[in-house]
Amino acid sequence: MRQDHLISASHLSREDIEAVLDRAADIDDDPAAFRQRHAGKVLGLCFFEPSTRTRMSFDSAMKRLGGQTVDMGPVESSSVKKGETLADTVRVVEGYADALVLRHPSEGAATMASEFVDVPLVNAGDGAGQHPSQTLLDLYTIRENAGLDDLTIGIMGDLKYGRTVHSLAEALTNFDASQHFISPESLRLPRNVRYDLHASGAQVREHTELDEVLPELDVLYVTRIQRERFPDENEYRKVAGQYQIDSETLEAAADDLTIMHPLPRVDEISPDIDDTDHATYFEQAHNGIPVRMALLDILLSQDR
Ligand code: CP
Repeated sequence: MRQDHLISASHLSREDIEAVLDRAADIDDDPAAFRQRHAGKVLGLCFFEPSTRTRMSFDSAMKRLGGQTVDMGPVESSSVKKGETLADTVRVVEGYADALVLRHPSEGAATMASEFVDVPLVNAGDGAGQHPSQTLLDLYTIRENAGLDDLTIGIMGDLKYGRTVHSLAEALTNFDASQHFISPESLRLPRNVRYDLHASGAQVREHTELDEVLPELDVLYVTRIQRERFPDENEYRKVAGQYQIDSETLEAAADDLTIMHPLPRVDEISPDIDDTDHATYFEQAHNGIPVRMALLDILLSQDR
Protein backbone atom coordinates (compact mmCIF):
# COMPACT_ATOMS: atom_id res chain seq x y z
CA MET A 1 0.00 0.00 0.00
CA ARG A 2 1.39 3.39 -0.94
CA GLN A 3 0.07 5.30 2.08
CA ASP A 4 1.03 5.12 5.74
CA HIS A 5 -2.59 5.75 6.78
CA LEU A 6 -5.97 4.55 5.47
CA ILE A 7 -8.23 7.61 5.45
CA SER A 8 -10.31 7.44 2.27
CA ALA A 9 -11.17 4.73 -0.27
CA SER A 10 -10.41 7.29 -2.98
CA HIS A 11 -6.72 6.88 -2.10
CA LEU A 12 -6.81 3.13 -2.86
CA SER A 13 -5.60 1.82 -6.22
CA ARG A 14 -6.70 -1.51 -7.64
CA GLU A 15 -3.26 -2.84 -6.71
CA ASP A 16 -3.69 -1.69 -3.07
CA ILE A 17 -7.12 -3.31 -2.86
CA GLU A 18 -6.00 -6.59 -4.40
CA ALA A 19 -3.00 -6.73 -2.05
CA VAL A 20 -5.32 -6.59 0.99
CA LEU A 21 -7.90 -8.98 -0.48
CA ASP A 22 -5.26 -11.52 -1.54
CA ARG A 23 -3.64 -11.37 1.92
CA ALA A 24 -7.10 -11.84 3.50
CA ALA A 25 -7.65 -14.92 1.33
CA ASP A 26 -4.27 -16.30 2.51
CA ILE A 27 -5.35 -15.68 6.12
CA ASP A 28 -8.70 -17.40 5.50
CA ASP A 29 -6.84 -20.41 4.03
CA ASP A 30 -4.25 -20.72 6.82
CA PRO A 31 -4.95 -18.51 9.87
CA ALA A 32 -2.36 -20.39 11.95
CA ALA A 33 0.44 -19.05 9.72
CA PHE A 34 -0.37 -15.51 10.92
CA ARG A 35 -0.91 -16.28 14.62
CA GLN A 36 2.35 -14.76 15.90
CA ARG A 37 2.90 -12.29 13.06
CA HIS A 38 2.64 -9.15 15.22
CA ALA A 39 3.40 -10.48 18.70
CA GLY A 40 4.50 -7.62 20.95
CA LYS A 41 2.68 -4.97 18.92
CA VAL A 42 -0.27 -2.95 20.21
CA LEU A 43 -3.26 -1.44 18.38
CA GLY A 44 -4.96 1.66 19.85
CA LEU A 45 -8.76 1.84 19.53
CA CYS A 46 -10.21 5.35 19.73
CA PHE A 47 -13.97 5.31 19.18
CA PHE A 48 -15.81 8.59 19.71
CA GLU A 49 -19.02 7.03 18.30
CA PRO A 50 -20.81 3.71 18.97
CA SER A 51 -19.61 0.58 17.15
CA THR A 52 -20.00 -3.17 17.45
CA ARG A 53 -18.50 -4.69 14.28
CA THR A 54 -15.63 -2.33 13.55
CA ARG A 55 -14.37 -2.05 17.11
CA MET A 56 -14.68 -5.76 17.94
CA SER A 57 -13.32 -7.04 14.62
CA PHE A 58 -10.24 -4.78 14.80
CA ASP A 59 -9.74 -5.93 18.40
CA SER A 60 -10.10 -9.59 17.42
CA ALA A 61 -7.97 -9.18 14.27
CA MET A 62 -5.06 -7.69 16.22
CA LYS A 63 -5.22 -10.45 18.84
CA ARG A 64 -5.36 -13.13 16.10
CA LEU A 65 -2.11 -11.65 14.73
CA GLY A 66 -0.49 -12.18 18.14
CA GLY A 67 -0.76 -8.53 19.17
CA GLN A 68 -2.71 -6.69 21.85
CA THR A 69 -5.08 -3.72 21.95
CA VAL A 70 -5.59 -0.68 24.15
CA ASP A 71 -9.03 0.87 24.03
CA MET A 72 -9.85 4.48 24.91
CA GLY A 73 -13.25 3.17 26.09
CA PRO A 74 -16.45 5.21 26.05
CA VAL A 75 -16.03 8.96 25.45
CA GLU A 76 -17.93 9.58 28.71
CA SER A 77 -15.17 7.96 30.79
CA SER A 78 -12.24 9.44 28.83
CA SER A 79 -10.46 12.78 29.22
CA VAL A 80 -12.37 14.04 26.17
CA LYS A 81 -14.96 14.92 28.82
CA LYS A 82 -12.40 17.25 30.43
CA GLY A 83 -12.02 19.10 27.14
CA GLU A 84 -9.01 17.30 25.61
CA THR A 85 -8.77 17.91 21.87
CA LEU A 86 -8.70 15.16 19.25
CA ALA A 87 -5.18 16.22 18.23
CA ASP A 88 -3.90 15.85 21.80
CA THR A 89 -5.74 12.54 22.30
CA VAL A 90 -4.18 10.87 19.25
CA ARG A 91 -0.74 12.34 20.00
CA VAL A 92 -0.88 10.75 23.44
CA VAL A 93 -2.32 7.38 22.31
CA GLU A 94 0.29 6.97 19.55
CA GLY A 95 2.82 6.68 22.37
CA TYR A 96 0.92 3.63 23.65
CA ALA A 97 0.37 1.85 20.32
CA ASP A 98 1.96 0.86 17.00
CA ALA A 99 -1.16 1.77 14.99
CA LEU A 100 -4.44 3.59 15.67
CA VAL A 101 -8.06 3.02 14.64
CA LEU A 102 -10.22 6.13 14.91
CA ARG A 103 -13.99 6.60 14.65
CA HIS A 104 -15.34 10.11 15.06
CA PRO A 105 -18.64 11.89 14.36
CA SER A 106 -17.01 14.75 12.42
CA GLU A 107 -16.27 14.39 8.71
CA GLY A 108 -12.58 15.11 8.15
CA ALA A 109 -11.57 14.12 11.70
CA ALA A 110 -9.39 11.22 10.54
CA THR A 111 -7.57 13.39 8.00
CA MET A 112 -6.88 15.97 10.69
CA ALA A 113 -5.80 13.37 13.28
CA SER A 114 -3.45 11.67 10.79
CA GLU A 115 -1.47 14.90 10.52
CA PHE A 116 -0.53 14.64 14.21
CA VAL A 117 0.72 11.03 14.33
CA ASP A 118 3.57 8.99 12.85
CA VAL A 119 2.03 5.54 13.43
CA PRO A 120 -0.47 4.23 10.82
CA LEU A 121 -4.00 5.51 11.40
CA VAL A 122 -7.13 3.81 10.02
CA ASN A 123 -10.28 5.85 9.55
CA ALA A 124 -13.02 3.66 11.06
CA GLY A 125 -15.74 6.15 10.06
CA ASP A 126 -15.73 9.95 10.12
CA GLY A 127 -19.27 11.27 10.32
CA ALA A 128 -20.93 11.04 6.89
CA GLY A 129 -17.52 10.92 5.21
CA GLN A 130 -15.68 7.64 4.66
CA HIS A 131 -15.33 4.12 6.13
CA PRO A 132 -12.60 2.53 3.99
CA SER A 133 -11.85 -0.60 6.03
CA GLN A 134 -15.56 -1.50 5.71
CA THR A 135 -15.12 -1.11 1.96
CA LEU A 136 -12.25 -3.58 1.90
CA LEU A 137 -14.39 -6.24 3.58
CA ASP A 138 -17.30 -5.35 1.28
CA LEU A 139 -15.05 -5.84 -1.77
CA TYR A 140 -13.76 -9.13 -0.37
CA THR A 141 -17.36 -10.31 0.03
CA ILE A 142 -18.29 -9.17 -3.49
CA ARG A 143 -15.21 -10.88 -4.96
CA GLU A 144 -16.10 -14.14 -3.21
CA ASN A 145 -19.76 -14.10 -4.22
CA ALA A 146 -20.14 -12.27 -7.54
CA GLY A 147 -16.69 -11.24 -8.78
CA LEU A 148 -15.42 -7.67 -9.00
CA ASP A 149 -15.29 -7.24 -12.78
CA ASP A 150 -18.28 -7.20 -15.12
CA LEU A 151 -20.31 -6.41 -11.99
CA THR A 152 -23.72 -4.72 -11.85
CA ILE A 153 -24.39 -3.44 -8.34
CA GLY A 154 -27.33 -1.55 -6.83
CA ILE A 155 -26.57 0.59 -3.79
CA MET A 156 -29.79 1.53 -1.97
CA GLY A 157 -30.94 3.62 0.97
CA ASP A 158 -29.25 6.58 2.60
CA LEU A 159 -26.67 7.59 0.01
CA LYS A 160 -26.29 11.08 1.43
CA TYR A 161 -25.13 10.27 4.95
CA GLY A 162 -24.00 6.66 4.40
CA ARG A 163 -20.21 6.70 4.68
CA THR A 164 -19.92 3.02 3.68
CA VAL A 165 -21.60 3.95 0.39
CA HIS A 166 -19.22 6.83 -0.35
CA SER A 167 -16.19 4.62 0.21
CA LEU A 168 -17.57 1.63 -1.70
CA ALA A 169 -18.65 3.70 -4.72
CA GLU A 170 -15.22 5.32 -4.98
CA ALA A 171 -13.34 2.03 -4.58
CA LEU A 172 -15.48 0.35 -7.26
CA THR A 173 -14.20 2.83 -9.85
CA ASN A 174 -11.05 0.65 -9.89
CA PHE A 175 -13.09 -2.21 -11.39
CA ASP A 176 -15.37 -2.82 -14.36
CA ALA A 177 -18.51 -2.15 -12.32
CA SER A 178 -21.80 -0.60 -13.35
CA GLN A 179 -23.19 1.24 -10.32
CA HIS A 180 -26.92 1.98 -9.79
CA PHE A 181 -27.86 4.25 -6.88
CA ILE A 182 -31.40 3.92 -5.50
CA SER A 183 -32.62 6.47 -2.96
CA PRO A 184 -35.23 9.11 -2.22
CA GLU A 185 -34.41 12.40 -3.95
CA SER A 186 -33.47 13.97 -0.60
CA LEU A 187 -30.87 11.25 0.13
CA ARG A 188 -29.01 11.20 -3.21
CA LEU A 189 -25.24 10.85 -3.22
CA PRO A 190 -23.53 14.08 -2.15
CA ARG A 191 -22.38 16.30 -4.99
CA ASN A 192 -18.67 15.79 -4.22
CA VAL A 193 -19.00 11.98 -4.44
CA ARG A 194 -20.98 12.24 -7.70
CA TYR A 195 -18.30 14.56 -9.05
CA ASP A 196 -15.50 12.13 -8.11
CA LEU A 197 -17.34 9.19 -9.70
CA HIS A 198 -17.91 11.06 -12.95
CA ALA A 199 -14.32 12.34 -12.95
CA SER A 200 -13.03 8.77 -12.71
CA GLY A 201 -15.25 7.69 -15.62
CA ALA A 202 -17.48 5.41 -13.52
CA GLN A 203 -20.65 3.98 -15.04
CA VAL A 204 -23.26 5.51 -12.72
CA ARG A 205 -27.08 5.74 -12.85
CA GLU A 206 -29.48 7.09 -10.22
CA HIS A 207 -33.01 5.82 -9.51
CA THR A 208 -35.79 6.42 -7.01
CA GLU A 209 -37.36 2.95 -7.42
CA LEU A 210 -35.62 -0.40 -6.93
CA ASP A 211 -37.86 -2.24 -9.42
CA GLU A 212 -36.42 -0.13 -12.28
CA VAL A 213 -33.14 -1.99 -11.94
CA LEU A 214 -33.52 -5.02 -9.64
CA PRO A 215 -33.61 -7.75 -12.36
CA GLU A 216 -30.22 -6.59 -13.73
CA LEU A 217 -28.33 -6.70 -10.43
CA ASP A 218 -25.61 -9.13 -9.37
CA VAL A 219 -25.35 -7.44 -5.94
CA LEU A 220 -27.82 -5.32 -3.96
CA TYR A 221 -26.07 -3.33 -1.18
CA VAL A 222 -28.70 -2.07 1.26
CA THR A 223 -28.03 0.64 3.85
CA ARG A 224 -29.76 1.98 6.94
CA ILE A 225 -31.22 5.48 6.97
CA GLN A 226 -28.69 7.23 9.23
CA ARG A 227 -31.14 8.79 11.67
CA GLU A 228 -28.35 10.21 13.87
CA ARG A 229 -27.02 12.37 11.01
CA PHE A 230 -30.30 14.18 10.20
CA PRO A 231 -30.32 17.77 11.45
CA ASP A 232 -34.15 17.64 11.57
CA GLU A 233 -36.14 14.63 12.90
CA ASN A 234 -39.08 15.58 10.64
CA GLU A 235 -36.87 15.10 7.58
CA TYR A 236 -35.94 11.63 8.87
CA ARG A 237 -39.59 10.69 9.34
CA LYS A 238 -40.36 11.61 5.72
CA VAL A 239 -37.97 8.94 4.40
CA ALA A 240 -37.94 6.33 7.20
CA GLY A 241 -39.17 2.93 6.07
CA GLN A 242 -39.36 3.89 2.37
CA TYR A 243 -36.91 1.25 1.20
CA GLN A 244 -37.61 -2.16 2.65
CA ILE A 245 -37.04 -5.49 0.98
CA ASP A 246 -38.74 -8.80 1.69
CA SER A 247 -39.36 -12.09 -0.13
CA GLU A 248 -42.05 -10.47 -2.29
CA THR A 249 -39.66 -7.71 -3.43
CA LEU A 250 -37.17 -10.35 -4.54
CA GLU A 251 -39.56 -12.15 -6.91
CA ALA A 252 -38.11 -9.97 -9.70
CA ALA A 253 -34.47 -10.55 -8.69
CA ALA A 254 -31.95 -12.91 -10.30
CA ASP A 255 -31.70 -16.28 -8.54
CA ASP A 256 -28.06 -15.60 -7.69
CA LEU A 257 -28.52 -12.02 -6.43
CA THR A 258 -26.17 -11.33 -3.52
CA ILE A 259 -27.71 -9.08 -0.84
CA MET A 260 -25.29 -7.16 1.36
CA HIS A 261 -25.66 -4.66 4.21
CA PRO A 262 -22.86 -3.14 6.34
CA LEU A 263 -25.14 -3.56 9.39
CA PRO A 264 -26.60 -2.66 11.80
CA ARG A 265 -29.98 -2.93 10.05
CA VAL A 266 -33.21 -1.49 11.38
CA ASP A 267 -36.06 -2.51 9.07
CA GLU A 268 -34.49 -2.35 5.59
CA ILE A 269 -34.21 -6.13 5.17
CA SER A 270 -36.96 -8.38 6.43
CA PRO A 271 -35.73 -11.29 8.60
CA ASP A 272 -37.54 -13.64 6.19
CA ILE A 273 -34.61 -13.11 3.79
CA ASP A 274 -32.00 -14.19 6.33
CA ASP A 275 -32.33 -17.89 5.56
CA THR A 276 -32.26 -17.49 1.77
CA ASP A 277 -29.18 -17.93 -0.44
CA HIS A 278 -29.34 -14.19 -1.20
CA ALA A 279 -28.46 -13.13 2.37
CA THR A 280 -24.74 -12.42 2.60
CA TYR A 281 -24.67 -9.73 5.31
CA PHE A 282 -23.60 -11.95 8.20
CA GLU A 283 -20.85 -13.53 6.10
CA GLN A 284 -19.88 -9.93 5.15
CA ALA A 285 -19.61 -8.92 8.82
CA HIS A 286 -17.51 -12.04 9.58
CA ASN A 287 -15.16 -11.15 6.71
CA GLY A 288 -14.12 -8.20 8.88
CA ILE A 289 -11.70 -10.56 10.63
CA PRO A 290 -9.48 -11.78 7.73
CA VAL A 291 -9.70 -8.43 5.95
CA ARG A 292 -8.76 -6.34 9.00
CA MET A 293 -6.02 -8.84 9.85
CA ALA A 294 -4.69 -8.40 6.32
CA LEU A 295 -4.90 -4.60 6.51
CA LEU A 296 -3.13 -4.48 9.89
CA ASP A 297 -0.51 -6.96 8.69
CA ILE A 298 0.30 -4.75 5.69
CA LEU A 299 0.26 -1.45 7.62
CA LEU A 300 2.33 -2.82 10.52
CA SER A 301 4.87 -4.47 8.22
CA GLN A 302 5.60 -1.39 6.14
CA ASP A 303 9.11 -0.11 6.52
CA ARG A 304 8.62 3.43 7.80
N1 CP B 1 -20.61 -1.65 9.76
C1 CP B 1 -20.18 -0.95 10.84
O1 CP B 1 -19.39 0.01 10.74
O2 CP B 1 -20.72 -1.39 12.01
P1 CP B 1 -20.43 -0.78 13.46
O3 CP B 1 -20.99 0.63 13.47
O4 CP B 1 -21.12 -1.70 14.42
O5 CP B 1 -18.94 -0.74 13.65
